[in-house]
Amino acid sequence: MLTKCHYYFYLCRMQGLIADIDLLEEEKNRAKVCDFKTTEDNGIKTNRKLYIESYGCQMNFSDSEIVTSILQKEGFGTTSSAKDADVILINTCSIRKKAEQTVRNRLSYFNGVKKKNPDVTVGVLGCMAERLKAKLLEEEKIVDLVLGPDAYRDLPELVKKAEEGEKGINTFLSREETYADISPVRLNSNGVTAFIAIMRGCDNMCSFCVVPFTRGRERSRSPHSIVKEAKDLFDRGYREVTLLGQNVDSYKWSAEENNKARLNKKENVATVNFANLLEMVAKIDPKLRIRFSTSHPKDITDEVLFTMKTYDNICKYIHLPAQSGNSKVLKLMNRTYDRKWYINRINAIRSILGTSCGISSDIIAGFCTETEEDHQETLTLMDYVKYDFSYTFFYSERPGTLAAKKYEDDIPLEVKKKRLQEIIDKQREISLERNQLDLGKTFEVLIEGKSKRSEEKMQGRNSANKVIVFEGSYPKGSYVNVKVTDCTAATLFGKIV
Ligand code: 5AD
Ligand code: SF4
Repeated sequence: MLTKCHYYFYLCRMQGLIADIDLLEEEKNRAKVCDFKTTEDNGIKTNRKLYIESYGCQMNFSDSEIVTSILQKEGFGTTSSAKDADVILINTCSIRKKAEQTVRNRLSYFNGVKKKNPDVTVGVLGCMAERLKAKLLEEEKIVDLVLGPDAYRDLPELVKKAEEGEKGINTFLSREETYADISPVRLNSNGVTAFIAIMRGCDNMCSFCVVPFTRGRERSRSPHSIVKEAKDLFDRGYREVTLLGQNVDSYKWSAEENNKARLNKKENVATVNFANLLEMVAKIDPKLRIRFSTSHPKDITDEVLFTMKTYDNICKYIHLPAQSGNSKVLKLMNRTYDRKWYINRINAIRSILGTSCGISSDIIAGFCTETEEDHQETLTLMDYVKYDFSYTFFYSERPGTLAAKKYEDDIPLEVKKKRLQEIIDKQREISLERNQLDLGKTFEVLIEGKSKRSEEKMQGRNSANKVIVFEGSYPKGSYVNVKVTDCTAATLFGKIV
């Protein structure tokens, strides 16, 4: 099982997809505590041990659960210490420069481990493997294996070859692979909440983003395998699943074709869309909560919002990244919507699901050509929407992306940082304001475990994804009603009623 830093990862998992935030001074201490997850010792006596360190988004953490499942079938147990491992894997993120630098630093640490244990196999998985391919083998002599996100079924073969002294690489990107038949080994689990990948890849080509190049074309996983996985989790005591994808609202599946681009070209094919999938999962049991991440403003439909409204167990929380509040910047970002469209989607959420529906965002400060006025429009959009939470970044140019090819990264770092700080300050104000609206209200809370700060307290979340801390001792996975008595910008505090 994996676990290292609960508090930081709680924040990361709220967003579901991305964990490596570009942090300013005051955020740095938290990031230093931990920005990756590792396997734990699973206590099973095996001849060979696997250690995985996972960086980046929730999708990567989910992929590590698939990888563990694949290698477990080959007789591997897991360990929490790289020094005890026979195979060390590092599942990497490329989304910002800083994420890749962290991985390079870890590889030099593993170099020391390998000096003491020359038989250990070291592999790089994920987005950085896909982006750099054979270059990684050339540049990092310690690396034996390089595998992209669609090549994990090849791991047993490549590990075997590496053990015989042969370096291996597979960065083939598939148009169909969804790992639908592989039962993930739950890592870092609290036994109550789990993630289910419903699709892979992204066809959006936002100009700043490396993901379409590292994770390939969009494809949707069979709804039957998703429902089966959710049902199995429920039967094992889990009470919340988060359906994961880079762009869940674009989910589209048919029995004959799961690749989105190819499916769109077919006529008269019976398809399952995201609203249909949500309904199928919601019907498993009213006591199973459903969340999802990430939604794209161009794709989120009223049909999805009405399905959310129909089922009490679909949580009233939407992560709807705006990226910028300015239409010119959004156009350069190739987001395919403008400020007016985004506001229309927010208005639809508010009119169908009400003001208490939680909304969060991703925001990038200092994208190419962004003026002070453009930046002010991001701040006014935040004021309009009243986000409960935002994941904030300054723009980091990524090689090979459309923006890197077409636009100059022309905003000086100090300006990017200043604007980012203004966005963070604004969000903190709004988060507090939103939490204060909950004072005196009573919410149904799913208990996730002990409070991170105090052994005597417990914590869980309400439907809108707000963390609520309260006194008492109740079993994990049970639902309680909690009246909110106090709050900070990050947390609600309350009493069981
Ligand atoms: N620079 C800064 N932030 C980025 N993101 C993606 N690519 C970049 C980049 N090049 C952010 C976006 C996205 C989130 C997952 O990461 O806000 O929604
Ligand atoms: Fe990247 Fe845009 Fe796809 Fe999100 S929707 S993964 S930002 S290309």
